[in-house]
Amino acid sequence: MPRLLLVSNRLPVTVKADARESMVIPSSGGLATGLRGPHQRSDGLWIGWPGDTSKLKPAQLAQVNQELADLKTVPVQLTASEVSRFYEGFSNGVLWPLFHYLLQRVPIDVHDWDAYRRVNYRFADAVIAQYREGDLIWVHDYQLTLVPGILRKALPRAKIGFFLHIPFPATDVFRILPWREEILDGMLGADLVGFHTYGYLRHFAKSIVRSLDASFSIDRIPYQGRTVRLGVFPMGIDVASFEKLATDDDVLAQVRSIREEAKGQQLFLGVDRLDYTKGIQYRLFAMERLLEREPKLRGRVRLIQVAVPSRERVDAYASFRRQVDETVGRINGTYGSVGQAPIHYLYRSFSQRQITALYRAADVMMVTPLRDGMNLVAKEFVASRTDGDGVLVLSEFAGAHSELGEAITVNPYDIEGMAASFKRALRMPEEERRSRMRTLRERIQRHDVHRWADSFIATMEHLPQAEPIGD
Ligand code: UDP
Ligand code: G6P
Repeated sequence: MPRLLLVSNRLPVTVKADARESMVIPSSGGLATGLRGPHQRSDGLWIGWPGDTSKLKPAQLAQVNQELADLKTVPVQLTASEVSRFYEGFSNGVLWPLFHYLLQRVPIDVHDWDAYRRVNYRFADAVIAQYREGDLIWVHDYQLTLVPGILRKALPRAKIGFFLHIPFPATDVFRILPWREEILDGMLGADLVGFHTYGYLRHFAKSIVRSLDASFSIDRIPYQGRTVRLGVFPMGIDVASFEKLATDDDVLAQVRSIREEAKGQQLFLGVDRLDYTKGIQYRLFAMERLLEREPKLRGRVRLIQVAVPSRERVDAYASFRRQVDETVGRINGTYGSVGQAPIHYLYRSFSQRQITALYRAADVMMVTPLRDGMNLVAKEFVASRTDGDGVLVLSEFAGAHSELGEAITVNPYDIEGMAASFKRALRMPEEERRSRMRTLRERIQRHDVHRWADSFIATMEHLPQAEPIGD
C-alpha cells in the first residue's frame, strides 16, 4: 500500500503550554478522534497544526517537536495573527456558520480571506516538503479547501483526495460566499472529493454547475482536462476500541459509581464540544419544558451535559457559553433542591475511557444538533452499549441520522416535540429499547472507521493518474 499523507488543520494531539510546563494531549473533535486509528495503522505522516506553541521556550519546543515526530506527525506552526485570522476569523467565523446554515452568525464585513489563502499555501508547502512519488495525499475539512488546488499545480501527477467533515450547504446558501469560485476550484484540485451523505454531494455538484459553469454526470466532474470523482463515505468510529473499553473492569466500576450517585433517577446524557451548532440550548429548553409539564419527573431525572471547551476566543463561542451558563442556572434554580440539581453541567474535556463510562451509564443519549456533518458521539454511544440497552434521541439534521433510523428522531427547533420525545424515551419498554439498539449496533459494526478509511483510500488508489494538461 502507498504511503499516506494525512493533512488537516487540527493534529490528533494538541500542545498545551504555560510558563512552567508543556503537555501533548489528545485533541477533541470528530476529525481527530476518527482518523487517529487509521493513522496509527498506516505507515504515513499526519501534517497539521499542533495548537499554540508560541509560549514555549526553545528547550520545550525541541522536546515537543520530538514527541510530535515520534507520533508520526509533522507540525505546521501558525503565528498568533494566523490563528486569529485564518483559524478564528475565516474558518470558524465565516465558513463554519455558513456551512451549518447559521447565516445570522456570519459577519457582514469579512477581512480574513487573504490570511485563509496564505495559510492554505503554508499547508500545501508542508505537504510538498514531505511528498515522495507514489504517496497518497488526503486533505481534510473546510479549513483547507484550497490545498488540493495548490497541490495540483505543484504536483500535477500526485493522487490527491479531499474529505469534507461538515455539511456542504444548499447552493443558495453557499453562493452567498464572495469567494465561492476559489473554494470550489480548490476542492476540485483533488482526484476524489468525499462527503458524509448523498445530500451534501448533491449540493456540491449543483454549486459547481451554478458557480463554475461546469457540468457533472452522477459522480464525475470533467474539470480543466481531468476528471474529478465525487463519493459518499459516511464516517464510522473505532467500534472495537469502544466495545473493549465498555467491558473493561475499571470502566464498569465507574459506571456503577455514576449510577450510584444518581440513585433513583433516570439519566439523560449530552456530550458535545460547546458549539452553537450542537443544539445544546434547544435541548436545555426542551428539558425545562419537560420538567414544567411533568411535576412527577422533578427530582427523578438528571441530565449530565458534558461541554468540551472549544474555540473560546471566537466571539460567537464566548457569548454562546454565557447563554448556556445562564440557562443551566435558571433551570437548576427553578427545579433543583438543596440535595439535587436536574442539570449536571461539566465544562471540560474527558478521556475516551471516562466518556465511555458515561455512555454506558446513561438511560437516554441526547444528540440534538441544529446541523452536524456526521456526529460521531451518536455512534460512540451505540458502540459502547455492549449491554444492548439505552435509547438514542437523534436530530434529523445530523448526518448520522441517515444511517441511524432506529433512534428516536427529533427536530431540535420543535421544543414541544422534543420534550415529548424525551418523555417517550424515558418510558420506552425494555423490549423495544433492546430491539432498536440491536439494529443500530449491527449497522455501526458493519461500517466502522477502518472500513471508511480503507474504502476512501481504495477508491483513490484505483482512479487513473491525472494527466497534466499539455502532456
Ligand atoms: N470527545 C472528546 N473529549 C471529550 C468529549 C468528546 O475527545 O471530552 C470526542 C468524542 O468522543 C467524539 C468527538 O469528540 O469522538 C466529537 O465528535 P463529533 O463528530 O460528535 O462532533 P465534532 O466535535 O467533531 O463537531
Ligand atoms: C469539527 C471539525 C474539525 C475540527 C473539530 C474540532 O469536527 O470538522 O475539523 O477539528 O470540529 O474543532 P477545532 O476548531 O478545535 O479543531
